[in-house]
Amino acid sequence: MTEFVDGWFLGHVLGEGAYGEVKLVVNKSTGEAVAMKMVDVEKHPDARQTVRKETAIHRMLSNPNIVQYFGKRSEPNMEYMFLEYASGGELFDRIEPDIGMPMGEAQKYFRQLISGVEYLHSRGVAHRDLKPENLLLDDNDNLKISDFGLATIYRIQGKERLLEKKCGTLPYVAPEVLVRAYHAEPADVWSCGIILVALLAGELPWDQPLAECPEYIAWKYGKYMSLTPWKKLDNSSLSLIRKILADSSSARYKISDIKQHRWFVTSCARDCVDGQKQAWAEDESLRNVCLSQPEFPGMESISATEFNLTERPTFSFSQPAHVEDLLLCTQLQAMTQPSQQNSFQRLVRRMTRFFVKIEYQDIVKRLMRYCEKENYVFRVNEFGVVTISTTDRRKMPLVFKVNLIEMDANILVDFRLSKGCGLEFKRAFLKIRGAMEDVIVKSSVVYSKNQ
Ligand code: ADE
Repeated sequence: MTEFVDGWFLGHVLGEGAYGEVKLVVNKSTGEAVAMKMVDVEKHPDARQTVRKETAIHRMLSNPNIVQYFGKRSEPNMEYMFLEYASGGELFDRIEPDIGMPMGEAQKYFRQLISGVEYLHSRGVAHRDLKPENLLLDDNDNLKISDFGLATIYRIQGKERLLEKKCGTLPYVAPEVLVRAYHAEPADVWSCGIILVALLAGELPWDQPLAECPEYIAWKYGKYMSLTPWKKLDNSSLSLIRKILADSSSARYKISDIKQHRWFVTSCARDCVDGQKQAWAEDESLRNVCLSQPEFPGMESISATEFNLTERPTFSFSQPAHVEDLLLCTQLQAMTQPSQQNSFQRLVRRMTRFFVKIEYQDIVKRLMRYCEKENYVFRVNEFGVVTISTTDRRKMPLVFKVNLIEMDANILVDFRLSKGCGLEFKRAFLKIRGAMEDVIVKSSVVYSKNQ
């Protein structure tokens, strides 16, 4: 392990963003773990301003359903942001493509999402890129909204401004965002509605909410009942989704309306039986999936508008006791309290991985043969990382990396999405896993300690 600063060591890559990676950093003596978002400002000179805005907003926030911001460190070529480590991975890892997840689980996550978004809006902050990839889970399976790279302030001292920047991820973006100045709150609420569809049906209803998209037009004009994903949903879920995905932003449900809807208030615990539940029960091993992120081509740059960002939350969360060591020019936001983390909580639950019982060279060959058969473009580097590029069913780019890590007698084959739709990534992973079935160690552990 490489030492980053005194006592803090770099762990594995947790994810990839537009400007760089997010890595785990661990304090060797206390075992505390923090997520470090790295932005290469040499490669992306415009990113420094973006980071400034992101951190200025993120540091205002403190809520159980939002990834806690700890501070940042600026170096000549790099910006580092230190964030609460959400050890449960991404919410999209819990979505089964084309199936979704049991309704009780979807309800729990959706309630936590709404609670986090309600808090954001109470602080006058719009997220503008809500999607399952930006929803992480902690060790207690609590949802945490992350990535404030596109967030903005839309209300100051009770005065709201309309937003103009067309940003977000097309399948999740509200229709008005694409055509005119828009109100922040209903646009975020719309994205929550699309997320709810993904949780309950394991698919996205359309590529983009535009006239040229027939699935969207069918929904808009109420001609959808025989179509998927809608026909998979029960009446109560569909009733709520209809009100959230109302085309007119002024007619759309507000968060206060959502919280009163029967789907939201009526507990749908484990025993609420439906078709989804059956499918899940049949294949427990598939209870973990993902979703997407096609980016807008030609997205505008971050608005230059600056605000007074000195506001601070009135209460804070616990954070690693030694996180100050990580910060150069101390921007410590939360109060220092002993960490609740222990080594068990730092176990990661990621399902896009398996162990194989064959040699390193043989698994590389198997992967290469598979890529050739599927017409995937691939590249193997000297560190045993295979980068695979293809396009998904929507003809969007899909890029993922396969890390081959020798562990005792076996090799861990670990897949990570670099670019594209998380659900499509999970579909591709499941196909590859199926093709490697004969060499996979059957009792492959679900929990594996952070390397
Ligand atoms: N990936 C991106 N941000 C993360 C975080 N804060 N915790 C865990 N994984 C992440």
